Amino acid sequence: MGDDAAASGAVAPTQTPTPTPSPTPLWSPGSPDLLIHADNLTAMRRMPDAIMRMAYLDPPFNTGRAQLRRTTSHSRASAPDGESAPTPTTWQGFGGESYVRTVEALTSYDDRFADYWAFLAPRLQEAHRLLDDRGTLYLHLDYREAHYAKVALDALFGRDCFLNEIIWAYDYGAKSRSRWPTKHDTILVYVKDPDRYLFDSTEVDREPYMAPGLVTPEKAARGKLPTDVWWHTIVGTTSREKTGYPTQKPVGILRRMIQASTAPGDWVLDPFAGSGTTAAAARALGRRSVSIDSGADAVAVIERRLAIAATRL
Ligand SMILES: C[S@@+](CC[C@H](N)C(=O)[O-])C[C@H]1O[C@@H](n2cnc3c(N)ncnc32)[C@H](O)[C@@H]1O
Repeated sequence: MGDDAAASGAVAPTQTPTPTPSPTPLWSPGSPDLLIHADNLTAMRRMPDAIMRMAYLDPPFNTGRAQLRRTTSHSRASAPDGESAPTPTTWQGFGGESYVRTVEALTSYDDRFADYWAFLAPRLQEAHRLLDDRGTLYLHLDYREAHYAKVALDALFGRDCFLNEIIWAYDYGAKSRSRWPTKHDTILVYVKDPDRYLFDSTEVDREPYMAPGLVTPEKAARGKLPTDVWWHTIVGTTSREKTGYPTQKPVGILRRMIQASTAPGDWVLDPFAGSGTTAAAARALGRRSVSIDSGADAVAVIERRLAIAATRL
């Protein structure tokens, strides 16, 4: 349109902006078990709030250390490179200012933890958002970071949301002679709402008493409820459940978590899915699952193990 049209008072056709199509939802209530090949932060951000009853996170030890060091070693709240940096407001944690102060204190002491936490915190925040108000989060950690992570999680979730510290003890492999051999992992358990969370101990597989002679024969036959110390063997080289994936966890420990913290038909999320142990245990118990992994080798193992095809983002 030129000056003539303007002079004549003609109205210029307005350019309506093309709406940006919102990405197709990854998940819907009727979805089958999902396997997503992607960075878990990207994938979780594409899912609606409060759809999961349980989340199990088994992140690799000190992920992202090399690429994160530069950005996080002196700051309280930097996001990993390439990820949208949370503003100080969104980075407060559910515990508010105390979270920032706690993480500041922890990270000034050990910048390896700063790197690790900068990777993990936004993913924990997403997992928290995805949990419904009866939901439970299990965070599986190495003994080297468990103590820091517990303090940081208390501040992130709120101290009253802490439920348990589970020790998974196994006895396998070489043993140090210069200190007590370290043969356990720590699993921190936090609930979304301490007044509403689901915990059904009646559904949990019972285990033999250590001293069956001290209880009645009926009790001995029934077995006892597991405590917060879980003796369970690792996936052995000749085990039937072995997939060949190096960090595969045993189905038996996931079974316990799923039995206690979900009901049949509930959704279980594993954003660091690896060999798909969570999904395999969930399926065997009649629960539904979302597995996410960024590694092509892991995704190939899960596709075979669960006979499902991955969605690639
Ligand atoms: C310790 S393994 C999980 C093992 C799993 N629990 C099992 O039983 O097989 C951690 C997994 O996280 C995946 N991973 C690491 N960073 C990721 C990210 N940003 N997004 C998605 N997956 C990631 C790795 O590819 C690896 O398979």
